[in-house]
This record gives sequence, structure tokens and C-alpha cells, in this order.
Amino acid sequence: MHKKLLIPGPTEVSLEMLQAQARLLIGHRSKEFSELYGGITAKLAKLFEIPADYQPTTTTSSGTLWFDIVGRSIVKKKALCCINGAFSKRFGEIVRGCGKPADFIEVEWGNVVKPEAVAEKLETGEYDTLTMCHNESSTGTRSPVTEVGELVKKDYPDVIFAVDSVSSMGGDRTLPHEMGVDILFASTQKCFALPPGLAIAFVNNKALERAREVPSRGGYTDILEIFKFEMKHQTPFTPNISLLYALDKRLDLMLEETYARIYQRHLDMAELTRKWARKHFEMFPEPGYESVTVSCVTNTQGKNVKELNQKLAERGLEISNGYGKLAEKTFRIGHMGEWTVAGIQQALDAIDEIWNLSR
Ligand SMILES: Cc1ncc(COP(=O)(O)O)c(C=O)c1O
Repeated sequence: MHKKLLIPGPTEVSLEMLQAQARLLIGHRSKEFSELYGGITAKLAKLFEIPADYQPTTTTSSGTLWFDIVGRSIVKKKALCCINGAFSKRFGEIVRGCGKPADFIEVEWGNVVKPEAVAEKLETGEYDTLTMCHNESSTGTRSPVTEVGELVKKDYPDVIFAVDSVSSMGGDRTLPHEMGVDILFASTQKCFALPPGLAIAFVNNKALERAREVPSRGGYTDILEIFKFEMKHQTPFTPNISLLYALDKRLDLMLEETYARIYQRHLDMAELTRKWARKHFEMFPEPGYESVTVSCVTNTQGKNVKELNQKLAERGLEISNGYGKLAEKTFRIGHMGEWTVAGIQQALDAIDEIWNLSR
């Protein structure tokens, strides 16, 4: 039996989206392709209200490519990486792996790096790049990106602020200019409810200007090449054309639902899950920083999460155990993409029944 995915990605993908990929291929240097790809870029700009100094792009990669792009194309002198979980740590480690110096501000999992801590480090003048993860999927924690973005814009305008929005973009409200972020990126298998294989990014002119000063940007990681081809509504290398067909369709559906309603639906799903979690358990993130797309619940009752998932599987559902060291100590419910309040309620009812929790 198929298990509907309530994990923090990949999330459930409808047959309609899977079938949208099943079209005959076109050459990626053809006029038809430029029409398809240019249309996608225009739809992304419309949905995310992108101003003139930003550009959207779509890379054939998972989201992690953008950790490398930041490491290779953006960091010139030294990066400051905010770390509060597994993915933000990976971001920092990849920047270092690209051969660039990087200092980490690391807080306990479940907490977030606060603007004051960032300001204290940026004040040294040592850094030209700041990295952060908006929605730490390993801990269900939402970082105060907008507050940090305001600080960077006001006091450190030469610093490029690059943010992983992999599991929040398109569910939570993530307009790059509103958040004060210079590079914001995500993967299609999360809130866009598509198969994995594409990453979507918004990049501003300030970030591209920086890249011009950075040598050895690599090939696939050269942000200037990506945007050189973007001008022609093309990609530097052969893209996943089939998945772009599905993205085109997905963006039509998102524009039809509207950004405001998508965000509200995600807020409603998060609110429902948090209320349920607080009734029976506790939320893992520090209060006020709970994710809108992934709820991470502290397993205060010491229930067996692995067994729960085996029983949920018989009902065609799958949630996530805690990430890494948090396995069995926490569990995570992903509520993103095409999920609705009614669907999440059904899943919570199933957990109530399996674990004999009072309604
Ligand atoms: C917050 C976050 N960042 C980065 C990644 C890595 O994304 P990808 O697997 O698309 O490379 C994930 C994947 O789960 C994630 O949740």
C-alpha cells in the first residue's frame, strides 16, 4: 500500500503532477524550451512578488547545490554560518569544503541564532557572507531571518545574506526582498509538492556583483553562468525538462490558489498540529520559533515512534522519527505542499487511535 508522506520531504506528490512530466521531450536550446523556461521564471517572479533587483532561477539539482554555489561563487573572504541543526550545519561544512574560511555560531538544537548574536560577530568586520537556515527540518525550528535581514541591510550592507529555505519556500511566507535576503533557495520536493530534482532560487544584483569578484567559481556552481543563460531563458547545462513541465503546472495551481491562501493553509495546518502536540506532548522548538511546515514534537510520553510508523503504514500514512540524535526523543510531522487541514486531522486521529490518546 502507498504510504502518504507526512515527512518533512519528499512530500506527497499528486498523480496530476507526476503525469504532468509525461510529455515528449524538446531540445533545451529550442524556442519551445525558452518559452517554457521563461514562463516558469515569470510565474516565480509573480508568485513571490520579485522586485526588479532580484531574479529567479531554477537549477537541475537538489537544494544542496546552493550550499556549494554560495561556497564557490559568493564567499570571498570569510563566512559566518548560523547553525541550529543538521542542515544549517551541512551548509557551514560545505562552505568550508569549498575551501573557504567559515566561522560557526552554533546553538542547541531546537533553539535559533538570534540577531544580537549575529550582530556581535558581524561587528568584527571579518565576514563578507552570512548563512542561515530559515526552516531547520531536523528540529522543526524557524529562524528569525527577517530580523537578521533587517540588521544586515542596515548595518552590514556589504555582507551577502544567503538563506536555505528548502523546506519553507512556497508554504511559509518567504519573499526574499521582504526578508532582506540576497540569496534564497529551495527544493521542489518540499512545499512545491513535486518530485525531487529541481532547486528554485532568488538572487539579487548585490549577490551577482559579489560573484564577479570571486575567482574559481567552478562549473555547475558558477552563479554568473547560471544568470548569463537566464537572460536567454535557458540553463547552462541540460536541465530536467520533464520536471520543468510539472513545475510549470504547479506554479499555475499556486497562482490560482494565491500566495496568501497557501500561506494561510500552512499556518492552519501548523496550528492544528501544534495544538494536538501541546495537548499530549510538547513542541520541541523554543517557544515562538516553531516551523510552519514541519512540526517537531518532543516525545514526553516515551512512546515508540518506530512502531507507530509501522502501524501508520497499515493505514497508508508515514510520519518521521526524530532526526539523527533526536530519534525516538522527538518525532516530526510534515504539513506542506498539497496537504490540507482535513488530511492532517485524519493523520492526527490515526495517531490518537494507535497510541490511545484521549481526543
Ligand atoms: C532545511 C533543509 N536544507 C537542505 C536540505 C537538503 O535539500 P536537498 O535534499 O534538496 O538537497 C533539506 C532536505 O531535507 C532540508 O530540509
